[in-house]
Amino acid sequence: MAADDHKSVVDVVAGHSGELKRTLGPFHLIALGIGAIIGAGIFVITGTAAAEHAGPAIVISFLIASVGCVAAGLCYAELAAMIPFSGSAYTYAYVAFGRFAAWIIGWDLVLEYAMAASTVSVGWSSYFKGFMANMGVILPSALSEAPFASSGGFTDISLTGAIINLPAVGIIVFLSALLVIGIRASATVNGLMVLLKVAIVFLVILFGLPLIKAANLDPFIPESMGPGKFGWDGIFVASGIIFFAYIGFDTVSVAAQEARNPQRDLPIGILGSLAICTVLYILMAVTMTGLAHYTTLGVANPVSVAVQAEPQLLWLEPLVNIGAITGLSTVILVSLYGQTRIFYSMARDGFLPPVFSRIDSRFSTPMNGTLLVCVLAAVFGGLFPIGVLGELVSIGTLLAFVLVCLGVIVLRTTRPNVKRPFITPLYPLMPLVGIAVCGYMMWKLPGGTWERLIVWFIIGLVIFALYGVTHAKKAVWKFEDAPPK
Ligand code: ALA
Repeated sequence: MAADDHKSVVDVVAGHSGELKRTLGPFHLIALGIGAIIGAGIFVITGTAAAEHAGPAIVISFLIASVGCVAAGLCYAELAAMIPFSGSAYTYAYVAFGRFAAWIIGWDLVLEYAMAASTVSVGWSSYFKGFMANMGVILPSALSEAPFASSGGFTDISLTGAIINLPAVGIIVFLSALLVIGIRASATVNGLMVLLKVAIVFLVILFGLPLIKAANLDPFIPESMGPGKFGWDGIFVASGIIFFAYIGFDTVSVAAQEARNPQRDLPIGILGSLAICTVLYILMAVTMTGLAHYTTLGVANPVSVAVQAEPQLLWLEPLVNIGAITGLSTVILVSLYGQTRIFYSMARDGFLPPVFSRIDSRFSTPMNGTLLVCVLAAVFGGLFPIGVLGELVSIGTLLAFVLVCLGVIVLRTTRPNVKRPFITPLYPLMPLVGIAVCGYMMWKLPGGTWERLIVWFIIGLVIFALYGVTHAKKAVWKFEDAPPK
């Protein structure tokens, strides 16, 4: 790769004068992180992972995934404080590896953000359907389920007979409209919903933990019944699956250009939200598998099943449903938000047509970019099932985490003198642990997901060849730590 194909930190700083408004403080950023983190992972996916792969030892799976996430989170914090501009891993990849890698990561991040919004919108749709059914309104399956299903492999796509998942499309369109109105309004709505869902998770732990039954946790690691089915292999497979629950803390770095004091507050937002959620998840996993036997948790609403198992906790059930619906809504909102800001950065750098980085003068938000994200997320959410989408989100995010950890190592070597307001501790061990643990979780994901990832990148390469190669700007060279050659 040509030397001048890289962006220097100075160029990134100089080239982004900030047309987005700087309105977010440390609490907004922590709320943004928690808003993106607590959602379908803990409210839906944990139950299946415990019932089918790990049993009560799902707690160990949460611990394993948290090691990878904490290592990646520390690396994100270093890069976010060092390069405090919109675009997150896309921008870091541009600085560390150059233009081509930037496109690859930018394209990969669509899997993490737009696709996460689609995934969670499908979960939201199931809860919404249940909620409407409780009110006596039965939504027809043809209009509330995915028309495509997959039994694993890339070519195993079949038709379900449904036409479209309309509630999933509806929630994406509604939340995209909220994003257009403004980041401050969205942050306020998000903040309220985050408070509500954290309060409900907290209540389940507070009242549930003292009532757990030791018998449900014995055996803690159920005996292996084949590859990935219980035993230690099951624990590792489950860690790759519940990794989905942790996704989102990195969204804080996307807000860099809207943070009031990014170099101080981004590390606080990233690490604060990750720490709070890690503790809540581990306590929640013990509470769920301690209240109900793990074999009963393989359902779409495992937290409700857990509280139903203890008569003294029945009063919590409606609250759990409210927590799930608000929890899933904030994840969709923040994921959509993250994707719009990544497209914004990519369009500014010429990878996408400039129309997508235009800031609407009335709302001060990237309206066209938001529309593009809305259409993408709605199409995937409207057509595909949660399992296929969720695994693609996990593999895409894990790849981004591996590259961010690698980016820390590359930049420490190539740009040792750039100011780093936050320094990843235990270097180089920490980024290496991040690469190893996240790489291992990727390895454990099913083959069909790998095939879909490869197809996704082939499409990305074609777009890059047709548009990015001729339109993406080459950086202007001003190294502050090394003279241009
Ligand atoms: N971590 C997010 C969730 O669990 C993506 O919904």
